[in-house]
Amino acid sequence: MTALPSPPLGILVPLAEEAEALFALMRQDGATQTRRLGGRDYHSGSLFGRDCVLTLSRVGKVAAATATAGLVHEFGVGAVLNAGVAGGAAASVHVGDIVVGDAMLQHDLDARPIFPRFEVPLTGMSRFAADAVLGASLARATQAFLAEDLPALAPDIRAQFSLASPALHRGLVISGDRFVNGHADVAALRADVPDALAIEMESGAVAQVCHDYGVPFAVLRIISDSADDNAHVDFPRFLGLVASFYSHHIIRRFLQDDWSLGRATISA
Ligand code: ADE
Repeated sequence: MTALPSPPLGILVPLAEEAEALFALMRQDGATQTRRLGGRDYHSGSLFGRDCVLTLSRVGKVAAATATAGLVHEFGVGAVLNAGVAGGAAASVHVGDIVVGDAMLQHDLDARPIFPRFEVPLTGMSRFAADAVLGASLARATQAFLAEDLPALAPDIRAQFSLASPALHRGLVISGDRFVNGHADVAALRADVPDALAIEMESGAVAQVCHDYGVPFAVLRIISDSADDNAHVDFPRFLGLVASFYSHHIIRRFLQDDWSLGRATISA
């Protein structure tokens, strides 16, 4: 029996700050290769000891879909991790919490009366499930982060963002092509999708493309705002001071966990 090499993990992040921070860590791990495709850089290399291809998707569903298709077609990734920030959708989800997505839905997809609201036309699906093994690993990584890494975040930063006791949530993440920053807007989304935990602009597209190609995926979102009238205020500061700290440690723990991207062994 010969074990084929495992395919790399694709990592897709929407914002330049997030991509830069992970690329810097990748360079610390060793040599990297960058290939430009469709106006986007794909960086291949090792991240915390695991073969990865990292790309900046940019914001929005089309950008995320294009970037995911690039990872799958051109780099043969065995799975995709979509990581970034999100607005809290549920009242129980607070700034500084972490949501691991179990399922994704596109809240702005509405082809009624031809198809039910939220359904991706001609698929019969409105919710796309994340991979259970990768989701469980992300959840473990997050629990360990909360217990062992978060205490090292400076007290003044924790106070500044009212990070009293950040929590892990698992469940539905909803995506759409707009930044939600109004009480009425977020209240309407809560009424329409009562089990939504987090709102962002990419993972629904990542999920749909991964589903089309049979590629497992996982979604990690750090809650940066409550999607209400204050949503934009401290966004850049949150990214630089909090989200980068969270994602560094959670992704490190996730990549060092013992899941593997199976590619069948072949008989020699
Ligand atoms: N990403 C982070 N916060 C968001 C919000 N309020 N709406 C959409 N995407 C987001």
